[in-house]
Parts: sequence; structure tokens; C-alpha cells
Amino acid sequence: MLNNLQQQPADALLALIKLHNSDPRADKIDLGVGVYRTGDGETPVFGAIKAAEKKLVETQDSKAYLGPEGDMGFVEALMPYVFGKANPTQDGRIEGMQTPGGTGSLRLAIAMAKRAGVTRLIVGKPSWPNHNQICADLDLEVFEFGHANADGKTDMDAVRGAIAQAQPGDAILLHGCCHNPTGIDYSNAEWDEIVGLIAGKGILPIIDLAYQGLGNGMEEDAYGLRRVIASVPEAIVCYSCDKNFGLYRDRVGALYVLAAEKDGLPKIMSNAHALARANWSQPPDHGGAAVRLILEDEALTKQWLAELDEMRDRMRLMREKLAAAGKTGGVDLTPIGGQNGLFSIIPFTPEQVQAMRDKHGIYFAGSGRINVAGLTQGNIDKFIAAVADVTA
Ligand code: LMR
Repeated sequence: MLNNLQQQPADALLALIKLHNSDPRADKIDLGVGVYRTGDGETPVFGAIKAAEKKLVETQDSKAYLGPEGDMGFVEALMPYVFGKANPTQDGRIEGMQTPGGTGSLRLAIAMAKRAGVTRLIVGKPSWPNHNQICADLDLEVFEFGHANADGKTDMDAVRGAIAQAQPGDAILLHGCCHNPTGIDYSNAEWDEIVGLIAGKGILPIIDLAYQGLGNGMEEDAYGLRRVIASVPEAIVCYSCDKNFGLYRDRVGALYVLAAEKDGLPKIMSNAHALARANWSQPPDHGGAAVRLILEDEALTKQWLAELDEMRDRMRLMREKLAAAGKTGGVDLTPIGGQNGLFSIIPFTPEQVQAMRDKHGIYFAGSGRINVAGLTQGNIDKFIAAVADVTA
């Protein structure tokens, strides 16, 4: 029976980890999967997480099940950061639950939207490949619109057109900040316009916020999400702590639902809980508990935010250096300076991507997406020279 299965290609992004690891060259560069790296090229555990984990080991007195919603202390402690300190529950209209990473949250969100009658997801192109993979697995139609123009700016005409064509039963997936894979975010004015367009259409916004704090700051990066939440009756937020707490493999995320009426939440959340039960039963506890301990402790919160600031500043510096290189071979690196987060796309041809790997030992996605955090003061000149070489 199992012989009937067709061979599946390895996930292209995850396969890059192995490709890079097996390259023996000492000066190889990994700009593949989205993990932050320090100026020494390391991905260390946050100091604040280490301290919280120590506390957790000392104080946790049980590992008994918590239920499909996970650690609600964690879920609620994050809410002021996501939705704002002034009214984090929107007068009781928002409730959340813990999920295994942002992917778990997206899986739940899309499955629940489908269960509620959503027949199509409107998604910008390009998007994080797993968005489309989850829709394909759930058999949900995807309607794509161009996310950005060749000049490195958002394609507002495309988003306007997509929303104008939206039909009842549509949901729209928006990246809250640090767009993956382009790094090209909507400006505040563009968010204002998008919110106005969505509000009149009765479509369900699903906001993927996987990089809060890595763009322009925790508050700044929540602008679009908060504007959407303030303007629509219903929305879903898919949150990831993988990057902003450096918890990648611990799988820490949350799903938040904004309901039209406070009284509607129990019914909606019962569906989210039932879907979680059928998928993973309960989320892994450890990372979420560590985040909760940080957010419950003023000194640890300060330490975490300072660590996040440092990451953001370092990535900004690398972006500035790339932008300063300007026209490099056949490509212009200038727009990268104004983009946000871990990723940017350089318009390499497939042959140029291969040449970067074979000739220079520099690994990144076939789409031309580079992880800016893989660049350091020690390797950025080599990277720029390699770009000039392969695109000349
Ligand atoms: C990425 O896009 O590289 C990250 O979000 C990691 C992943 O799971 O793909």
C-alpha cells in the first residue's frame, strides 16, 4: 500500500541546510534558511531565554498536560505586544491559544477558515512557500497577486486589484512585517489604504506576524496588524516566537482570533481547540513557558528587548553596507537598504544562483532570497564581489 506513494521533493529551503553543511570550503556562506546570526556567524540562545530556562528547570513542578490551548499565561502575556497595551483584548473580542510555531498557527487558521466557509485565500506573490503548501494540503484555492515591483517597492495596484476582485468566501493573507521572502513591507500609509479597502469587502484577514521586532521595532512592526484589528469585525493573527525569541526548533507560536462579538469567541475557539486536538493534541510546552517567564519578569523583558535591538541594528548595518555597494555587476543592491527583516531578493537567474554555490560557496534559496543575517563584517565584501562576478 505505502508503495503507492509518490516521491516528494525535499523542501527546498530546508534542503539548503544540508547542502551548505556538506560544502567543505572554510569560507562558505549560509544565507539560506531564516535564522538570525551574530557578527560571528552564530545563532546563540538568547541570554534572556537561558535565564528563563534556568528558572523553569528550578520551578516547574509538573509536566502534566495543559490542554489543546497550551500555556495561556504565555498566550496572554504576548497580547499587549501584539495588539497594544491600551486594549490588548479589544474589549474581550480577542482570544488566543498556543501553537507549535507559526506554521502550526497558520495550519489552524487556514483549516478553521475553511471550516467556516472560506473557499479561497488571496496571497501576494511571492510569499513564504509554506503558505501555498498548507493551502495545497488543505485543498484550498489560492488567488495570487503581485506583491512587489521590480524597483523594490510594493505593488499597490496589484493589492488594490486583488481586493477589488475579492468575493464572499475569500480570506486574505497579509505579512504583518518583514515580508518573507522580499523584505518589502507596506508603509503605514499603504496599510491605512489596505485597511480601508478590506473593511468594506467582508473578507477575512489572516495576518502572519513571524518577525515582530526584527524590522523597525516591536511597536512599529505591529502598525499594520493593529490597524486591521481596529477596523474589521473578524480577523486571525498567526504569531511566531521562532525569530524574536530565537526559539526556532522549540516551536513556539500562537493563534489569535478577533471575533465580531465577544460572545462569539467560545464557539470559534472550540473549533480551534478541536482542530488542534486532531492535529497535534497539545503544543510543546518548554519554549512557550520560557517566553512567559521572560514576559512576567521586568528585568528579563528588558534583557530580551535589548537583545532584539542588537539583532535589528546588526541586520540594518548589513543592509546599509549592501545598499552602499549600489550597482554591483548586473544588479542593483540599493533597494535592500530600505527593506526589513531577515530577507531580501536579488534578481539572480537560476544559473547565477548555482554559480554562487559552485564557484563561491554561497548558499541561498533558488528564488534569489538571501538571509541578510548570514552576512557579517567578515564575509560581506566576499559576498558583494561574488555578486559582481556572477551577474557581470
Ligand atoms: C524561512 O523562511 O527560512 C523560515 O521561516 C524558516 C522556515 O521554516 O522556512
